[in-house]
Amino acid sequence: MKRHASSPTPLRAPLAALPLLVLAALAAAQEPPQPVPLPEVRHEGTMSLEAALWARRSIRDLKPDALPLAAAAQLLWAAQGKNRPDGHRTAPSAGATYPLEVYLVTGSVDGLPPGVYRYRSATHDLVLAQSGDKRAELTAAPGRPPGWAANAPLLVVFAAVPDRVSRRFGARAERFLAMDVGHAAQNVYLQAAALGLGTTFMGLVNDSAMTRVLRADERPMGVMPVGTPR
Ligand SMILES: Cc1cc2nc3c(=O)[nH]c(=O)nc-3n(C[C@H](O)[C@H](O)[C@H](O)COP(=O)(O)O)c2cc1C
Repeated sequence: MKRHASSPTPLRAPLAALPLLVLAALAAAQEPPQPVPLPEVRHEGTMSLEAALWARRSIRDLKPDALPLAAAAQLLWAAQGKNRPDGHRTAPSAGATYPLEVYLVTGSVDGLPPGVYRYRSATHDLVLAQSGDKRAELTAAPGRPPGWAANAPLLVVFAAVPDRVSRRFGARAERFLAMDVGHAAQNVYLQAAALGLGTTFMGLVNDSAMTRVLRADERPMGVMPVGTPR
């Protein structure tokens, strides 16, 4: 029997649905990743502030052992977490302009696949920015082999959006940006000490690798690899 031109062949129906499937796949690919909620932070610990100050030092000899997500959450909160209902944070900021963006770069954190995650202070959660292990790429100087920092289970990365400060403070912005980072970094040093962890503020990082990870308006400011001291 001669088949009518418009009669469906076994393949025609799925083929007709193909554009719809492609559109659905594209829409799914463009959907922003689901935020990762972080464990609630502890507001009390077992070490006094004075003991943490006594213990604070730059520690580079770190074990590669995984850290719990709760430790990562505590470090991020110390860096830029919210500590009042109005959104103000654990670290001071010039005119409360909050130019800092904090990223968590994971290699070995329980329950969190290796990747680069943006920390959101207001909601105390993470949003995946890039997947994959970026520790070596971000911390190795260009043309040099990865150093000690690439073995740290996590990195806390500081970036800044200079415009947030310069709009308000003009030429003083440069000074104020550095001060904001300094305050936040010292919080991370002290929180790490209080958790029995080690860290070092690194200003000498791979700027070009950083810009591949950061948003266009963000400038790399420093990296703090964190792990258990050997
Ligand atoms: C702005 C700044 C940049 C730094 N950059 C690096 C760095 O790139 N690599 C590193 O191993 N340590 C770096 N450090 C850590 C210093 O070397 C360290 O703080 C100093 O030697 C004093 O030691 P302490 O932190 O144990 O007291 C930096 C510290 C600061 C404040």
